[in-house]
Amino acid sequence: MDKSALSERLAEAGQSHILQFWEELSPEEQAGLAQDLQGMDLLEVNGFFQAAMELSGSAKQEKVDNHMEPIPRGVLGSVTRDRDSLQAWEEQGLRCVSQSQVAVLLLAGGQGTRLGVSYPKGMYNVGLPSHKTLFQIQAERVLKLQQLAESKHNTKCSIPWYIMTSGRTMQSTKDFFSRHSYFGLSPDNVIFFQQGMLPAMDYNGKIIMESKAKLAMAPDGNGGLYRALGSQGIVENMSSRGVKFLHVYCVDNILVKVADPAFIGFCVTKGGDCGNKVVEKTNPTEAVGVVCKVDERYQVVEYSEITLATAEKRNADGRLMFNAANVANHFFTLDFLRDVVQIHEPQLRHHVAQKKIPYVDPQGRLITPDKPNGIKMEKFVFDIFQFAKKFVVFEVLREDEFSPLKNADSQDGKDTPSTARHALLSLHHRWVLNAGGHFIDENGTRVPAIPSHVAAESISTDVNMNLKDGTDLPIKCEISPLVSYGGEGLEELVAGKEFRPTLVIDKDGAHQLVKNGV
Ligand code: UTP
Repeated sequence: MDKSALSERLAEAGQSHILQFWEELSPEEQAGLAQDLQGMDLLEVNGFFQAAMELSGSAKQEKVDNHMEPIPRGVLGSVTRDRDSLQAWEEQGLRCVSQSQVAVLLLAGGQGTRLGVSYPKGMYNVGLPSHKTLFQIQAERVLKLQQLAESKHNTKCSIPWYIMTSGRTMQSTKDFFSRHSYFGLSPDNVIFFQQGMLPAMDYNGKIIMESKAKLAMAPDGNGGLYRALGSQGIVENMSSRGVKFLHVYCVDNILVKVADPAFIGFCVTKGGDCGNKVVEKTNPTEAVGVVCKVDERYQVVEYSEITLATAEKRNADGRLMFNAANVANHFFTLDFLRDVVQIHEPQLRHHVAQKKIPYVDPQGRLITPDKPNGIKMEKFVFDIFQFAKKFVVFEVLREDEFSPLKNADSQDGKDTPSTARHALLSLHHRWVLNAGGHFIDENGTRVPAIPSHVAAESISTDVNMNLKDGTDLPIKCEISPLVSYGGEGLEELVAGKEFRPTLVIDKDGAHQLVKNGV
């Protein structure tokens, strides 16, 4: 192993400490460390650090309140306020799907530290009656949508599914899909690719060592997507398949409407090159980012970047003025994405995430800090909104479309396996009611049906609340995505019938199985 060449490179980058334990390492460890360093442009990493620290310093100093404008109505579509247009948008989206113009891109490179499992989050089973994982629910939605488009347009089509993983999640994700026969999808249409990793740095810009022989590495944020799309030839792959439109989303949302035709159709009809799906922020102190215009460009403004007074501002109709909560659910045209990858991506600076990063001290002891001791550098998927020529926003109901899995279960936890499970069961319960089905309790008495608009307003926002005292749990009702993508086609199975929970409607080959009271 040529230590001197390595030393020289490290000295030039001010990172000589990386070799401080070199003489103690085994030849294998030396080779491993040298290999990790070989693929890394250390001067580039230093540059990222400086730019990220500058960005974070200026963000701390300046609130953006005085530069913010809400989203103009002209670029906004809403499933509740634009009911008249919804069907046309959906048809447009389904037409694009039927022509194989729509692809789906899943962001699954995160580490899921808050959830605390050692495997990729998509493999998590939140405890549904079917025990399906997040990956399976999403795969089946892709498959069902493909079938709906095919039968409506009497044609064959495919929805390529691009799955971004990281160094830490790639192999286990691939193995999982392979073990489950790609959940019925064609393996050719499931394309895995890997985002980049960056070293964690201390506040002086020194790379942190997680052991004597290993750098502390982390994925470069979900906005690492854009660099990976270029470096791994994914944009060309999309082009060669005739893809024109992309739906990009996060793995942890159990309710995600993968390749949602209404969203796609809305964005296409409006001529948008970049679209964002949002849900309404109703509580001023909810810590979500909101989409708005800042100095004439669209961006997501984090809760911490505005004052409470701005967060509390309301319109005449009583809604919050800045209420378009970002849920990491996006539409891009391929042309826009290509420009981002080829032109804009290098201009994006990393954000700083302060973390407690385990490290070896100069004496070689492994230290687990109890307060943040360094930073991870991340780009965000929404950093590119500013480059859109025509940005559009689509507002949907939170209870129908957004329930993320972030944290492990706890007594009054938010965004946990229990809240995700309850959100899905509640939604499917409402689908059955809307299709004319009824539920009876153990005494045979009908459970009062909740009109869907009341449910829409109350159920899921209350999911977290209901869990606190364990009351008012949702009726156990789960409908396979292979049977219904978004509540359609259930009348013939449930109308006028009474069911005793647990109700599971699944599919076995061509047969729909209605399992009642299981
Ligand atoms: P989060 O920011 O919630 O991170 O990711 P996470 O890794 O899932 O969880 P924590 O913060 O470690 O607990 C939102 C989405 O972005 C993806 C995640 O997989 C998730 O779908 N993501 C995040 C990436 O694809 N790459 C990253 O580097 C970070």
